[in-house]
Amino acid sequence: MAPIIALAFAFLFFPLSSSVSALSSNYYDQTCPQLEQTVTSTVQKALQNDRTVAAALLRMHFHDCFIRGCDASVLLNSKGNNRAEKDGPPNISLHAFYVIDHAKTAVEALCPGVVSCADILALAARDAVVLSGGPTWEVPKGRKDGRISQAIDTRQLPAPVFNISQLQQSFSQRGLSLEDLVALSGGHTLGFAHCSSFQNRIHSFNATFDVDPTLNPSLASNLRSICPVNNNVRNAGTSLDSTNFKFDNMYYKLLLQGRSIFSSDQALVTDKRTRALVAKYASSQEEFENAFVKSMIKMSSITGGQEIRLNCRVVR
Ligand code: HEM
Ligand SMILES: *[C@@H]1O[C@H](CO)[C@@H](O)[C@H](O)[C@H]1NC(C)=O
Ligand SMILES: *[C@@H]1O[C@H](CO)[C@@H](O)[C@H](O)[C@H]1NC(C)=O
Ligand SMILES: *[C@@H]1O[C@H](CO)[C@@H](O)[C@H](O)[C@H]1NC(C)=O
Repeated sequence: MAPIIALAFAFLFFPLSSSVSALSSNYYDQTCPQLEQTVTSTVQKALQNDRTVAAALLRMHFHDCFIRGCDASVLLNSKGNNRAEKDGPPNISLHAFYVIDHAKTAVEALCPGVVSCADILALAARDAVVLSGGPTWEVPKGRKDGRISQAIDTRQLPAPVFNISQLQQSFSQRGLSLEDLVALSGGHTLGFAHCSSFQNRIHSFNATFDVDPTLNPSLASNLRSICPVNNNVRNAGTSLDSTNFKFDNMYYKLLLQGRSIFSSDQALVTDKRTRALVAKYASSQEEFENAFVKSMIKMSSITGGQEIRLNCRVVR
């Protein structure tokens, strides 16, 4: 069964991947048997110092996979005239790159030149979910690191103002379905949003309404007081759900009450098919976890790189 699935992925993603390689759970069993425990303990230590790290790692992996495949392009630094993805406009909440650096250093000390940064990031994202109380899963490994990272490519990321058809298109271009869209949006059970990301809903929403009428009124007035029209508090914003350090299904429960943060979240209840999935995950943590795991494995299997970097911030 596994090779058939791998083959299906290879065909599915061929148009977006520069290389097609089968991933496997036991990829490093011979070459780096201590890989997973090394990454896990690095992530655990980082989380003990700063609990915002979990959300950062999950989002970082998502951004990585949506641009050039999961090839660690998001980790590369700008160099010379080249502005890298991490210095592109939607990077506002990307942080905690140091955690991947620490994990890479620890892994290189054990098994030099063997493990890709893309695999370390995929493992760290999984660990972030587990350490936040979410489900665990076997991460397929064997990704390669890419050599290209361009700020302009971040335009290809879905925007928080996207409606359901724009979201569907963005996901389907990467071989991901509406089911994947709803399950992966559950990542917004963790983390934080800056005012600029939901500004459209609370000021000059459309020609008729100043405030998005689908947004819960008390949440709306709270958000408007945190984020006035001419907000100049750099770090102002709000948590993505009321339990934003816990990986649970609260995001979906709040979404049904008009208490999600982005238009792209609210969009999930504007379509009958996606709304039914939102309702399902709101009423069952287990259904959510099963769907999330399945879709994470799918998203994180979009490959794209060619090499194994020694330092995650620079090409070899
Ligand atoms: C469906 C399309 C998506 C859109 C439009 C979107 C958009 C955003 C935006 C605008 C932010 C806030 C940035 C800021 O203001 O700081 C954010 C945060 C976040 N997103 Fe998404 N996202 C999407 C899908 C995903 C997926 C698939 C995941 C992971 C499975 C994810 C995980 C996160 C996390 C964890 C945060 C919080 C980051 C932090 O606190 O550091 N998002 N997202
Ligand atoms: C985000 O991009 C800006 C330039 O657009 C850059 O100055 C800033 O350092 C970047 N932030 C991170 C966390 O990389
Ligand atoms: C979504 O937005 C696009 C671009 O603005 C528009 O063409 C399309 O009709 C919208 N779709 C829905 C379902 O609102
Ligand atoms: C404004 O948004 C509301 C809620 O989405 C919608 O019902 C209404 O048609 C929109 N009005 C205009 C003028 O676009």
